[in-house]
Amino acid sequence: MSQHAPHRLYLHFQELPYSIRTLFTGTLLVLGCGYIFAMIYVFESHAGRDGNASLSVQDLIIAYSGSKTDTQLEAALKGPMASMLSVKEANTISGWIHAGVSKAEFESNVAAIIEQRCTACHDGTNPHLPNLNGYENVIKTAQLDKGADLFSLVRVSHIHLFGMTFIFFIMSLIFSHAFLRPVWLKCLVVATPFVSIMLDVFSWYLTKVFEPFAWVVMISGGLMGAAFAYMWIVSMYQLWFYKLPKEIADRLQSEARTIG
Ligand code: HEC
Repeated sequence: MSQHAPHRLYLHFQELPYSIRTLFTGTLLVLGCGYIFAMIYVFESHAGRDGNASLSVQDLIIAYSGSKTDTQLEAALKGPMASMLSVKEANTISGWIHAGVSKAEFESNVAAIIEQRCTACHDGTNPHLPNLNGYENVIKTAQLDKGADLFSLVRVSHIHLFGMTFIFFIMSLIFSHAFLRPVWLKCLVVATPFVSIMLDVFSWYLTKVFEPFAWVVMISGGLMGAAFAYMWIVSMYQLWFYKLPKEIADRLQSEARTIG
């Protein structure tokens, strides 16, 4: 036996029944769509915090460790909430913050904008959204931005660690039926997303104390996406279009296995 002989428990996609190959294909299609929507969400909720429309390391630093110059309210107006009001209205609110958040100016200029543009969602009934109902509540968000608070990081961490593990467990299990040599490379592809998830989540906290960890957040997110794309494309291709390598084709023939 050559050292390239497949493991006894290894089955290529094309040795599997059509029903399982169909199951894998459906799963890949839906997971792929899910990943695209997740990317759009990540982009929409982080890009632009630093005033520049693209997603940068600076955006991540502001998201996790806060901004030394912005308040939470202003960061939201430049970033995720920018589409909720006109530039002129956003400038009125920023001007009010920089002039010292006086109550009189709030009542005359700002209150109407907040009421019209924000309180539909931020009326205090949803405990996960800052309450913008009235002067006292609004000024709480107009203090210096400290970034995501620890409790919301803990919340997102456990969702991420559980959710991403499920996604990549399914993805890697499907990908394990692909034919790829050398074997260590295949194992590396399988390991990459799991290492990246841990690096990503722990770097959110570390970015709070040491900003350059935002680079680790960025790079691990990129690695995770690259591993996902690679496994997706290789699996889909080998499921339906790949010509079996000799090692597998020989085995199929010698065992006269049916691939029904
Ligand atoms: C359609 C519903 C909706 C409207 C209208 C809305 N928001 Fe939000 N806002 C949200 C949601 C959902 C979140 C949390 C998710 C996120 O950060 O993207 C949020 C988050 C925020 C945050 C916290 C951001 C952070 O994570 O630090 C602030 C501050 C905020 N909004 C301010 C505003 C202001 C000011 C307005 C009005 C100009 C406004 N919002 C209008 C839904 C809304």
